[in-house]
Amino acid sequence: MVEETRVTTSDLIFPLFLLEGSNLKSEVSSMPGIFRLSADLMLKEIEQCLKLGIKAFDIFPAVDDQHKDQKATKSYDATFFYLRALKEIKKQFPEACIMTDVAMDPYSSDGHDGLVKDGKILNDETLEILGKMALAQAETGIDIIGPSDMMDGRVGYLRKVLDKNGFTEVSIMSYTAKYASGFYNPFRDALDSAPKFGDKKTYQMNPANRTEALLEAQLDTDEGADFLMVKPAMTYLDIIRLLKDNSTLPIAAYNVSGEYSMIKAAAQRGWLDEDRVMRETLLSIKRAGADVILTYFAKAFATQPT
Ligand code: PBG
Repeated sequence: MVEETRVTTSDLIFPLFLLEGSNLKSEVSSMPGIFRLSADLMLKEIEQCLKLGIKAFDIFPAVDDQHKDQKATKSYDATFFYLRALKEIKKQFPEACIMTDVAMDPYSSDGHDGLVKDGKILNDETLEILGKMALAQAETGIDIIGPSDMMDGRVGYLRKVLDKNGFTEVSIMSYTAKYASGFYNPFRDALDSAPKFGDKKTYQMNPANRTEALLEAQLDTDEGADFLMVKPAMTYLDIIRLLKDNSTLPIAAYNVSGEYSMIKAAAQRGWLDEDRVMRETLLSIKRAGADVILTYFAKAFATQPT
């Protein structure tokens, strides 16, 4: 009766990795229990999850090297498997809330979120590509775009592009405080999207910074974001609380791949009780102030007994 915080399946967004082709399912080796799926199998997965009470999904494409180039041109090619699958998913499950990722890295031969020239990321030139990408995704009927690229000014830019083309109802979940973190490595395995040179420290945030998260939140809010996200979650609970206390927008937290893998690895050795630690983790993220949690544990949370 006096319990202050409860996590429910309605709080969760389940990230999924999409493969080109059909009847394909391959486990991410650094993320036991998480599979890359072709569209036909993903439709079945979404159907199952909806029955378990999971209503929202964030879909990322695992793109074959042959389709990658410097300008991420496949990201706005309507015939490409990712965009075709999104359309099919929304057609079959209009009630599912579908979020997409806006960033160049899955399609970039450089493995960076932005356009690279002479070893540098070109912020403003990247915006044009992100605009085409977001528009192509909106055209499939999805509900939320998630700019995970961290270029400056992209929320305002994308909002304008979407509105101008009649997609005023597509929401933007901005990766507001996305830190240059070591916890993303298993995700980069999943998509084979690790940077080919350098790191992402010129566009992702310094883990030492807190006040800067407030500045990012202010900018994103002014530019028209509908949600503010903090990422990773477990090592940034203070930032989640900071944004919750300083914003009236819904706050999302991304319980990232490395956070999932740590718990899975320890549980596989019998060092931690997976179900218990998973629930405690999600609870702590919600208690910190997250209204929405993106987590690879979503299905396990919905499936296993409490
Ligand atoms: C890149 C992107 C990353 C994640 C989501 N979008 C990785 C990165 O910035 O290198 C990480 C998610 C996770 O680790 O679960 N646009």
